[in-house]
Amino acid sequence: MKSPPVRAWILCLAAAGTFGCATAASPRTVPAVAEASVRPGINAPYVQPDALDKFTRVLEAETREVAQHRDEIVDAIGLRRGMVVADIGAGTGLFVTEIAKRVGKRGAVFAVDIVPVFLERIRERAKADGLTNVTAVQGEEKATALEPDSVDLAFMCDTYHHIEFPQTYMRSLFRTLRPDATLVLIDFERIEGKTSPGILQHVRADKQTVIEEVKQAGFVLQSETDLLEENYYLRFRRP
Ligand SMILES: C[S@@+](CC[C@H](N)C(=O)[O-])C[C@H]1O[C@@H](n2cnc3c(N)ncnc32)[C@H](O)[C@@H]1O
Repeated sequence: MKSPPVRAWILCLAAAGTFGCATAASPRTVPAVAEASVRPGINAPYVQPDALDKFTRVLEAETREVAQHRDEIVDAIGLRRGMVVADIGAGTGLFVTEIAKRVGKRGAVFAVDIVPVFLERIRERAKADGLTNVTAVQGEEKATALEPDSVDLAFMCDTYHHIEFPQTYMRSLFRTLRPDATLVLIDFERIEGKTSPGILQHVRADKQTVIEEVKQAGFVLQSETDLLEENYYLRFRRP
């Protein structure tokens, strides 16, 4: 069989982690190479026996910037009654109640996480608050576990840097969203010389890298909201 030109193979290899690949000489699609974890073990602390107590304290601490500004963050999303929202990596549910109140009974919130004890806490809290529009969803490492074309808005707060397989995951999220849907992505600034050493070590990618990765999955960057200092607040559209 005739081999494709060397340059085509190089391009193919470069793209293989992200897309299936075919060359002019070989129209057969080469199976995509499975994406490797960009941060093995980053979610391991969430499955320790004391995780629920520990991370309820950590994630809901009033010293956390996004907890301090929770209402402004939710106001800036631009939620409307009846919307279907996915809180991706909902954690212990810091944002779930406020989002659920704003979309109302005709709307819905899917609180997606990979940690079962966090999901249980979200269910209990929704029940205690009388919120019937919240569904806690067991997500997957590489996929949202939600129906395709089912969501108007995805919200990710400090979750992106915990996604181990970002290209695979973001393509799943793209499919989950309806055309013209919105992705709001908040994550830590990562600026050498400015960001704390702890965050520099914990968060693998800076804002520009995240923007490029999310665009690679098909999203279009729309705007940035200047609301926070330690975190950036980006809005993408799913075309
Ligand atoms: C730093 S916490 C943020 C939680 C919440 N968004 C908040 O701001 O309080 C990151 C969350 O992402 C979740 N996570 C990591 N990988 C995930 C995946 N593939 N799908 C869904 N959630 C994921 C973790 O379990 C964790 O709850």
